[in-house]
Amino acid sequence: MTLLRDADLAAAFDHAARSYDTLVAANPGYHAHLRRSVRRLGLPGHGAGLRLLDLGCGTGASTAALRSVLPAAHITAVDASAGMLGRAAAKPWADEVTFVQAPAEGLASAGVSGPFDAVFAAYLFRNVSDPDAVLATARDLLAPGGRLGVHEYTLSGRRADRAVWTLVCRGLVQPTASALGDGELYRHLWRSVVEFDTAERFAGRVRAAGFEHVRALPLPGWQTGITHTFVARRPESAQGPESARRPGSVQGPESARRPEAAQGPESARAPQTARHPKTTR
Ligand SMILES: C[S@@+](CC[C@H](N)C(=O)[O-])C[C@H]1O[C@@H](n2cnc3c(N)ncnc32)[C@H](O)[C@@H]1O
Repeated sequence: MTLLRDADLAAAFDHAARSYDTLVAANPGYHAHLRRSVRRLGLPGHGAGLRLLDLGCGTGASTAALRSVLPAAHITAVDASAGMLGRAAAKPWADEVTFVQAPAEGLASAGVSGPFDAVFAAYLFRNVSDPDAVLATARDLLAPGGRLGVHEYTLSGRRADRAVWTLVCRGLVQPTASALGDGELYRHLWRSVVEFDTAERFAGRVRAAGFEHVRALPLPGWQTGITHTFVARRPESAQGPESARRPGSVQGPESARRPEAAQGPESARAPQTARHPKTTR
């Protein structure tokens, strides 16, 4: 099969939306890992005065993780799939959460504008046709010094980790998904991961997009070597550091194993107090 992209992918997610929450509930650590990735953004306090963008929010699992860690923040949650977004928006949320149906490649025309204090994207980037363009969009939507958090299946490059991924997909996920009529999407899931960047390569991609302080951090359990959190910052200056575009400055797997460093409260940006309608489009 070829990878699903754009309208075909959105249609597959539309169909899978009804069983998505059940499937992820069977994945040990799914929600806890999302919360861990949000904490790794290092944003201060409860997020009061902060604007966050949840790119590819799906049925709202990543939105819930943002709410859990940063309950006082304003969150704009965006997804291309009407089915996934509809499931998310139907859940009870505080007024600070707004849902917008839009592709990550068309945020401006959907009225999503920055500056945001953080852009969080969980399980999005290996699904987009042009990850560099979406990284550039995320960078441009961030306030200077704003945080990027990417939570993504990105293999370590070790054969054993790829084998575990294949075993989990073929042995558990695909049989269940096929029985639910979503076999094509979950075959795409397997392939989208094995064909996507390794963690080291994605960290380099983030750096090449003009971010600084790029770190790839592992997640525990069966996802070690399979799923990583990437955290980075938009430079304070528009130009960014020299190193942002220097080839060969990629942080390798050693850095991925470094313990996560707490980020200081200097990350707090100017308060954004604008309120948004709960759902648009
Ligand atoms: C695997 S789900 C993850 C959902 C959620 N972030 C979570 O952690 O559970 C990926 C989501 O990304 C959305 N998506 C894929 N490509 C997209 C794009 N180009 N623009 C916006 N959303 C996209 C899909 O519709 C889907 O809801």
